[in-house]
Amino acid sequence: MSDATSGSTAASSARGTDRGAGWARTEPSGAAGAASQAPPRAAAGETLLEIRGLEKHFPLTQGVVFRRTVGHVRAVDGVDLTMRRGETVGLVGESGCGKSTVSKLLVALEKPTAGEILYKGRDVARMNRRALKAYRREVQIIFQDPYASLNPRMTVGDIVSEGWAVHTDVAPKKGRLQRTQELLDRVGLNPDYVNRYPHQFSGGQRQRIGIARALALRPEVIVCDEPVSALDVSVQAQVVNLLEDLQDEFGLSYLFIAHDLSVVRHISDRVAVMYLGRVVEEGTDEQVYGSPSHPYTQALLSSVPLHEPHLRGQKDRILLEGDVPSPADPPSGCRFRTRCWKAQDICAQEPPALVDRGQGHPSACHFAEARTVVPTE
Ligand SMILES: Nc1ncnc2c1ncn2[C@@H]1O[C@H](COP(=O)(O)OP(=O)(O)OP(=O)(O)O)[C@@H](O)[C@H]1O
Ligand code: SF4
Ligand SMILES: [Mg+2]
Repeated sequence: MSDATSGSTAASSARGTDRGAGWARTEPSGAAGAASQAPPRAAAGETLLEIRGLEKHFPLTQGVVFRRTVGHVRAVDGVDLTMRRGETVGLVGESGCGKSTVSKLLVALEKPTAGEILYKGRDVARMNRRALKAYRREVQIIFQDPYASLNPRMTVGDIVSEGWAVHTDVAPKKGRLQRTQELLDRVGLNPDYVNRYPHQFSGGQRQRIGIARALALRPEVIVCDEPVSALDVSVQAQVVNLLEDLQDEFGLSYLFIAHDLSVVRHISDRVAVMYLGRVVEEGTDEQVYGSPSHPYTQALLSSVPLHEPHLRGQKDRILLEGDVPSPADPPSGCRFRTRCWKAQDICAQEPPALVDRGQGHPSACHFAEARTVVPTE
């Protein structure tokens, strides 16, 4: 279909104080009630989410009548991560390393096998029903596949407002249609398309619907699980820009998952690199891109295409050999050792801790050393 993007929104968004902003901050009549009921925002920079030793092991079963467990897929196997208010943490890694499982654990779609998720200092696993309900509202998710993540039988308006059936206090019944239209407008869609169905929209527009659905619940945190991977490059930039605008406007915090390091770099304050269920390196955008110290990060960076022609010849080329081992049977010691050109005996015996070994940021490598892979101007 033709572009359903609202022309008014681009202009209003550029002003920074459009109808959407009004919707969020100074609401008339019914909406004002919801604004006053909204929980107080945490102060900027304060730790919002803390993940400690998070694990998720899926049982591997055999047999049709008598199902027995023959092993476990260690999808997430000891992840530590911190997210502060207002920041974007990028999570990158190859397919199958456990990124989506982390995101599902975060939004309580899966239960951890071990470890803790602390939200504003409270353990999510120990929250009572009321606190868990509030948590589910405050921590929203945007999925990778804009085609599978929207119910094709529901109108866009019903999709965006669905969460209000559970979280009734967020939007009083009166005025919900207007609010839904304001949300559509804010994410760059024509508010008049509220009665259309997902199949009438393009991939980028559907992802905007997903963003409006998340935004409708006034979240603090949005877990963005590869939100632009399925989109054309030009549309990717538009969606990333929209997410950045919304972050500034509503003080949102993002966990931004991607396998493309260049996308993560654009949007993230801090970056965590995952390999086979674990974080292997973590640091600011500058640290991880400018002086990566884990061999896997260096290899990942080396595979990112450079857009600046004059820098292309200066890139360090690292070709990784072998496949990612099965998370059902990960290598002993360092999980990266089967593909690492620096591996030594100790790597098979001792799992390297994620600590700072003098590079100024943590890296899970016994022989961590900074190496400039991609020239920074
Ligand atoms: N429900 C499940 N049951 C069994 N194994 C699972 C389940 N969900 C995920 N896995 C396995 O856990 C591992 C991690 O999967 P996950 O989807 O988290 O990876 P990912 O990093 O998001 O990959 P991608 O980049 O392809 O989306 C994979 O080996 C996957 O097959
Ligand atoms: S600990 Fe050893 S195998 Fe692992 S990344 Fe470092 S050098 Fe390579
Ligand atoms: Mg995934």
